[in-house]
Amino acid sequence: MNKLITFEGVDGCGKSTQLRRAAAYLRDQGCDVVTTFEPGDTSLGKEIRRLLLAGEFVPVAEAELLLFLADRAQHVHEVIQPALASGAWVLCDRYSDSTLAYQLAARKLGDAGTNPCNEILNGMLSFAECGVSPGLTLWFDVAVDEAMRRMQQRVKAGEKSTRLDDEAVSFHERVAAAFVEQFSLQPERIARIDAGVDMDAVAQQVEAVLKQRFEALA
Ligand code: TYD
Repeated sequence: MNKLITFEGVDGCGKSTQLRRAAAYLRDQGCDVVTTFEPGDTSLGKEIRRLLLAGEFVPVAEAELLLFLADRAQHVHEVIQPALASGAWVLCDRYSDSTLAYQLAARKLGDAGTNPCNEILNGMLSFAECGVSPGLTLWFDVAVDEAMRRMQQRVKAGEKSTRLDDEAVSFHERVAAAFVEQFSLQPERIARIDAGVDMDAVAQQVEAVLKQRFEALA
């Protein structure tokens, strides 16, 4: 199976911590692991990330979509593809499922209604992947109110929130609903992790899924 594993979920679901723990687990098993994230893990991407998230600009929904996709194409070519080609496992914090949830669903770009429009949008997502789709996606499922509570704690602890973190609860609810729907459509690729429990219990679920999906780890 393709060794690109993506980590997805609403803001505050805890996936970034779990990505670090999964990387440590895989390294303990002797695997070569590259960890990365979107948006922003290339030189160009760093600039795109600033434009998208710092709050200085408020792109229209269409421009926001195109900027996330530009970041992805650059990221696939510069980071993901070379790492996979070298035989490494690639753990990526967010990928196309986030674009589907945040831009197509929560920003309602996919609501323009007509099928041709949705086909074009899905085509654009796949174009930006440049042929590299995840072998496995871990979806960290947590109630939006719990996720927002965690985000508020982080802000209190001094972390700066992004322009998207600061969206209304209804926006985050649409993001969450989109992840639920994607999981129902693609259960073979997407594994649901209950992220409402403590960190160790979440990490155990992740390890169990990795062992179950990848023969080399069993
Ligand atoms: P980040 O600070 O990296 O947060 P997180 O740890 O939650 O991933 O912020 C990335 C933000 O960008 C997050 O709010 C989700 C959003 N995003 C999109 O809206 N579309 C996308 O395609 C991607 C990759 C991220």
